[in-house]
Amino acid sequence: MNKSLGFFLGFFGLLFPLTVAKWNILNQKSHNGLKISVKEYCRSWRLNIELNNIREFQVVPEECSEYIGKYMRSMQYNVDSELALDECLVYLSTSCNLKKDGKDAWIFDIDDTLISTIPFLKNYLYGGRRLNLTALEEWMNKAKAPALDHSLRLFNDLKSRGIRIILLSSRREHLRSATIDNLVNVGYHGWTCLVLRNPDDELVSVEKYKSDVRKQLEKDGYRIWGIVGDQYSSIEGLPSAKRTFKLPNPMYYVA
Ligand SMILES: *[C@@H]1O[C@H](CO)[C@@H](O)[C@H](O)[C@H]1NC(C)=O
Repeated sequence: MNKSLGFFLGFFGLLFPLTVAKWNILNQKSHNGLKISVKEYCRSWRLNIELNNIREFQVVPEECSEYIGKYMRSMQYNVDSELALDECLVYLSTSCNLKKDGKDAWIFDIDDTLISTIPFLKNYLYGGRRLNLTALEEWMNKAKAPALDHSLRLFNDLKSRGIRIILLSSRREHLRSATIDNLVNVGYHGWTCLVLRNPDDELVSVEKYKSDVRKQLEKDGYRIWGIVGDQYSSIEGLPSAKRTFKLPNPMYYVA
């Protein structure tokens, strides 16, 4: 295993080697011989990431990193995120019979869900270059990640409905105070608990770690109405929530 993969593994959990780029830039064809452009290919790549058809990619294919960078800086990314979060409100007002007994709960991821790692990832070609865990954690320690505004609005809306907010992240425990500072500085406060990964949790996949936390929350009597996350490992695994909402993130994959 090479060093940078080791770093990535350490931070984000288990990743398996996989080649994703079946695209051949020289003949500009898909498998069945249709002529397609790089842009069409990259759009399709992004769609299939969000559909969870392409999994466990280690880097964005080289020919798509420019396209992915543009998407992450675009209005489209904002609109996609906002629509996903609007659906949380539709769901809450149509399908949730909140008991308001202090046990209605909602789970959020942190990175690229509440706050953005784009200021860091832009130096890694928006996922086109392997992440370096040391550099990533140094950046996280500065507590300068900006808020994702639509998420902040949803967070505050849920709070005003009396829903308990649980923050469940694959960030490591030593980043706790930097994480709290960062969240508070950009406007998040009043969550019920912040769960970060202990060394023991790093021995299992992120999906298992997060499922185990949900199991404990249910034991403690919480009804988990929803999860908002940018990774499938945040919303898959049992027990889950009554509904889950996936935010776009074509820059990296956490297994
Ligand atoms: C990772 O980042 C650290 C801190 O910025 C740096 O010292 C180190 O050389 C980097 N490692 C690799 C493999 O790039």
